[in-house]
Formats: sequence, structure tokens, C-alpha cells
Amino acid sequence: MSKRIDVADLNVYYGNFLAVEDVNINIDAKTVTAFIGPSGCGKSTFLRTLNRMHEVIPGARVEGKVMLDGDNLYGSGVDPVTVRSQIGMVFQRPNPFPTMSIRDNVLAGIKLNNKRISKSDADGIVESSLQGANLWNEVKDRLDKPGSGLSGGQQQRLCIARTIAVKPEVILMDEPCSALDPISTLAIEDLINELKNDYTVVIVTHNMQQAARVSDKTAFFNIAGTGKPGKLIEYAETATIFSNPSVKATEDYVSGRFG
Ligand SMILES: Nc1ncnc2c1ncn2[C@@H]1O[C@H](COP(=O)(O)OP(=O)(O)OP(=O)(O)O)[C@@H](O)[C@H]1O
Ligand SMILES: [Mg+2]
Repeated sequence: MSKRIDVADLNVYYGNFLAVEDVNINIDAKTVTAFIGPSGCGKSTFLRTLNRMHEVIPGARVEGKVMLDGDNLYGSGVDPVTVRSQIGMVFQRPNPFPTMSIRDNVLAGIKLNNKRISKSDADGIVESSLQGANLWNEVKDRLDKPGSGLSGGQQQRLCIARTIAVKPEVILMDEPCSALDPISTLAIEDLINELKNDYTVVIVTHNMQQAARVSDKTAFFNIAGTGKPGKLIEYAETATIFSNPSVKATEDYVSGRFG
């Protein structure tokens, strides 16, 4: 488990609109990488290209390469469904299936991939995934209750459990804490810190303290103006980005002197 991602010369389009231009980035296995930058600079758009979620939008396409341990995810014959099971995604709003039980929510991704599993294998996956998401102790006595009965923070950890259950190599998270209270946010941050023992994690966040707390490396994206493409401006160790960035725009953004 856990692979590296190397992106080369990536352009991302919505129809004719070039939303993100010429990204080159190398993300090591078993690290946490934060994507930061102002609203509209293309963080979510770029993140979605990393597991081929971008192309489900009509007219959306990419140019360039995204390599998972050297294999181009956009190579001919590569199945996007397989890509999405190797590179899982957690969204801004916790999105468990509301009427499904906690147990079935954890197993939902596996069933989507058409894998048949025995009851005892399923029980094992449910327990280990919920443990991996730091949720097991809170829900082990109510696995058959609906996922919607959990708090927002618990629902987000349930979504992380669902992502872990398919045994991905990489976990992408788009502002996973923005709908959560501070305590749940810290619980997710602790969890991210543990996840990197087993997975490569990429997180989009607007919260500078969060980026500083959870990530090893930070990528700052920016946009020159409306209608212009977003670009990767600077990518370095998180401590460097926050204390000694090389680009003025990075410094302005991380110190709050922006827009
Ligand atoms: N489905 C879409 N169709 C067309 N354009 C889109 C679509 N989604 C995003 N865009 C455009 O692409 C650009 C980048 O948007 P994106 O959502 O990736 O930014 P972001 O950095 O994630 O912003 P935020 O911090 O507000 O989430 C914006 O100009 C946006 O309007
Ligand atoms: Mg976004």
C-alpha cells in the first residue's frame, strides 16, 4: 500500500476554459501534502485529476501525465474505475449513504467495485476500516444503525473508513474539515497523521494552521485574475512555505496579505 504520484505538464480544461495550467509536481509515498491557495485557483480541479474524477464532468479533459508509481493513469487501456479504487477521495461535506447502515456504508465502495466477499471477511474489513478511521469504539455497538445518525465529524470518519475499506494507495481529501467543529477537526487531523503510515495523503485546505499541522509538504496555487488559469506557484517543505518561501505571492498568501 501507498504509492508516489508524479505529475508532468498537466493542463486541465472545462471545455475551452483552461482552468489549471502546466502543473509539475512529485508527491512521495507515505507523506501528507497540502494544497493551498485562494478560491478559484483550481485546487479542487487539480485534485480531481489525480484520480480521474475530473473527466466525469461533461467537456472536461486533461493534457499531460499523472503517474502512480510510474504508471500513467491516463494511459490507453487504463480503467478509470480501477484508478478510483487505487486513489480514493473524501469530500468537503460528509456524504454517507443516509439510509444505509454504518456497516453497509463502510462496505459500499467494495460493493461498487463488484467484489464478492464472505460475511466473515466483510466483518473483518468493517472492523479494521473503522479502526483505521478512529471510529470503531464509537460505533461498534450500533453497526446496523443508519450512517445519518452520526455526528458530522463521525460521518466524515465513516467516509474515511469507506475509502480505506477498498485498500487504496492514495487518499485525496478536499477540505475534509470545513463542515466540522474544532474538536472533530482535530480528530480528523490526528487521523491524517496516522493515515500517512500506510497511505499517501493529499489534502486541500483553506486553513493555514491545518496545513502547517498536518502536512509534510505544501503546494501553493494561485491565479492571476478571473478567466486566467490557476498555476502551481511554489511547492516545498511545509516549514519552508510558512517560514521562508521563495516567492513573494506565497509569502503574501500565507501571511494573510492577500485579496
Ligand atoms: N464543473 C465546472 N465547470 C466549469 N468550470 C468549473 C467547474 N468547476 C470549477 N470550474 C472553474 O474552474 C476554476 C477552478 O475552480 P476550483 O473549484 O478548482 O477552485 P478551488 O481552488 O478549489 O476553489 P475553492 O477554494 O473555492 O474551492 C474556477 O474558475 C471555476 O469556476
Ligand atoms: Mg475547491
